[in-house]
Amino acid sequence: MTEKTASEKIEEEEIVIDVDEPELTVEDLPGVGPATAEKLREAGFEELLAIAVMSPSELAEQAELGEAVSAKIIAGAKKMADIGGFVSGTALLDRRKTVQKLTSGSPNFDELLGGGFETQAIVEVFGEFGSGKTQIGHQLAVNSILPLDKGGFDGEVFYIDTEDTFRPERIAQMAEAVGMDPQDALDRIHVARAYNSAHQILLVDEIKRMSKNLDVKLIIVDSLTSHFRAEYIGRGMLAPRQQKLNKHMKELKQLSDVNNALVLVTNQVMSKPDAMWGDPTKAIGGHIVAHASTFRLYLRKSKGGRRIARLIDSPNLPDGEAVFTVTTEGLRD
Ligand code: GTP
Ligand code: MG
Repeated sequence: MTEKTASEKIEEEEIVIDVDEPELTVEDLPGVGPATAEKLREAGFEELLAIAVMSPSELAEQAELGEAVSAKIIAGAKKMADIGGFVSGTALLDRRKTVQKLTSGSPNFDELLGGGFETQAIVEVFGEFGSGKTQIGHQLAVNSILPLDKGGFDGEVFYIDTEDTFRPERIAQMAEAVGMDPQDALDRIHVARAYNSAHQILLVDEIKRMSKNLDVKLIIVDSLTSHFRAEYIGRGMLAPRQQKLNKHMKELKQLSDVNNALVLVTNQVMSKPDAMWGDPTKAIGGHIVAHASTFRLYLRKSKGGRRIARLIDSPNLPDGEAVFTVTTEGLRD
């Protein structure tokens, strides 16, 4: 890790939270010595706010501390953490002006999204098998590397692959089609295979660490829900599953805000047999995933290899549909 100068750090903070005081660290908490600080960091608690919003039993479990100690640490964090607070609409509009848009390669699709996939957002793409979710992931990965004047982000891509469906050959094909050296493209796409949901969650921490030295512009989790779905089975597991998913999505959203990056998550729909009992177009993960996503896209297959994307519940765009195709070159109208 390269050390950043104080002025560089302050500059970054100004973009994100507009503070000029040095940030407090876990060591500043009452009763936290080097060993406890290490435990907190290892459990992923770098920021005071993250500690302030925990319950003593949760913190005790996750950081392997006693409950009494945890309660004391949380109380301290509540007093010292920067809770955020209220900002003016003008400040928010300024923040909106920093939003960047990424092309999908299909003008129809881009138009549906008001010009492309936005940064500072989580986009959830859900649909049945073969509807094109993974293809969208691959295409956005390639396009992220494009220069800004070509609809890209000129940034690094992090791809969390839970289903072992990332294909470098496919990236190479799509890169060549947009006139990019496939090798350059593959060099800037960082892929990790997540073996279970806990690993998937840890990989987000790893991206956070790597974002200190790399310009993270796109994070893909393909699929967001498959491990959770396989591991948490039965009614009694629903609440813990949703809690974990909720926290996972909050961490992803934070990454997107801090780095002015786009997060793309894919999600399956209920399988066909479930259609007897419920809506076959319902995404897995329920309200938690739906609510945590900024934009939701429902994909379905249509005649002649075409795909239809429907935009649902957007905060600032009309609901609507776009037709696109998946070709050897990638996504096109
Ligand atoms: P699941 O992960 O199984 O839920 O599906 P998905 O929604 O991720 O589907 P995916 O994005 O993998 O889409 C697969 C489909 O994309 C294939 O059935 C093909 O129609 C299309 N496809 C994939 N690769 C190519 C290619 O190289 N050329 C063309 N023309 N089509 C492709
Ligand atoms: Mg897929």
